[in-house]
Amino acid sequence: MTADLVIRNARVLTCDPSRFGLGMVDRGAIAIKGGEIEWVGPEADRPAATRVIDAGGRLVTPGLVDCHTHAIFAGDRANEFAMRAAGRSYLEIAAAGGGISATLLPTRAASDQTLITLASARLDAALATGTTTIEIKSGYDLTIAGELRLLRCLAACAQRPAPRIVPTLLAHLVPPDRIDDRSAFVLEICDQLIPAVARDKLATSVDVYCDEGAFTLAETRSILGAARNAGLAVRGHVGQFKDLGAAELLSDLAARSADHLEQISDAGIEALAAADIVAVMLPGACVQLRLPVPPVERLRQAGVPMAIASDLNPGSSFSSDLPLQMWLATTHYGMTVEEAWLGVTRHAAKALGLPKAGRIAIDAPADLIVWACDDPATIPYRYGAAASLIETVYVAGKPIAAP
Ligand code: NIG
Ligand code: FE
Repeated sequence: MTADLVIRNARVLTCDPSRFGLGMVDRGAIAIKGGEIEWVGPEADRPAATRVIDAGGRLVTPGLVDCHTHAIFAGDRANEFAMRAAGRSYLEIAAAGGGISATLLPTRAASDQTLITLASARLDAALATGTTTIEIKSGYDLTIAGELRLLRCLAACAQRPAPRIVPTLLAHLVPPDRIDDRSAFVLEICDQLIPAVARDKLATSVDVYCDEGAFTLAETRSILGAARNAGLAVRGHVGQFKDLGAAELLSDLAARSADHLEQISDAGIEALAAADIVAVMLPGACVQLRLPVPPVERLRQAGVPMAIASDLNPGSSFSSDLPLQMWLATTHYGMTVEEAWLGVTRHAAKALGLPKAGRIAIDAPADLIVWACDDPATIPYRYGAAASLIETVYVAGKPIAAP
């Protein structure tokens, strides 16, 4: 069989679990057909192809997978950044009317087209630093109709060729005007919003921010239970500020991921390990809010798969740069370079329920990056330089022009 394209003379970082470690194939080649990987192996064994590209010994990796972002919103909160730099805390600012609720008004006031244009610019930026698949959560409207509108805007963004978008419904906060009838708000999420999202296929999973100042454990249980009943996958923002026991709940619900984890008990870690739930590390938000580092060594010892994501949002992490997060994960979280790579490829794909993505293996989507270097450590090592280190990004086997 003749492939559409062979990339030859490459150092192929496959991230394939059936190979050792990161599954590096030195002097390797990749064959692509119909937008998927048809073959990968030693250069000498490569199949015939309509087109052959010589990678000149460069590193070729899977396209990066950002499994946790809040990329659809309007406005910014640079003022809060300045306040934190001057010593105020995220929770103090939120309690004084800033935080997530400060993004609700500009988001609600923005037209669909404005939201789509703003999100598209953020998608271009993500692609420029190697992101080929990006999860995006709703959560900055917090009315039933408004959350559905955000997800419909994401469906419009998904018409773009790249990056691929995975939409998530996020129960982010009880909005200020619903604090006094929060149980009715939670019921509306369970009985109206989630069934509508499932019916119209607007998201594949539901996430809840279960933390101090956000949803309680009991509310999280109701919302994620409704999601499971509607056939949707579940995830959670867990222990960014306080461990409310959400990891154990996520384990009972066979969730895909537990994200943040600055505060998590040993029992919570065991629960994640037992249910094979991905721990999503968000080091940019952690550093910016000056939070303690999650217990990486305990997660590692328990065998919990760790992903790394940008948490792109207007409050705690206004960046989509995944290689920068790899740098923070290796320098600040104590993760190895190998763990950093798996964190933005295979483990991130697992958190999104994409079992074939985030690797270079037969039948995987042909989403690839050809880097202008040959050592995988170079990408976190030369932090902030990712865009200049990328030679070509392929999505579904096609080169994507730099935005
Ligand atoms: O993941 N923790 C909750 N949500 C975001 C922050 C959102 C915001 O501040 O606007 C996060 O860090
Ligand atoms: Fe988040």
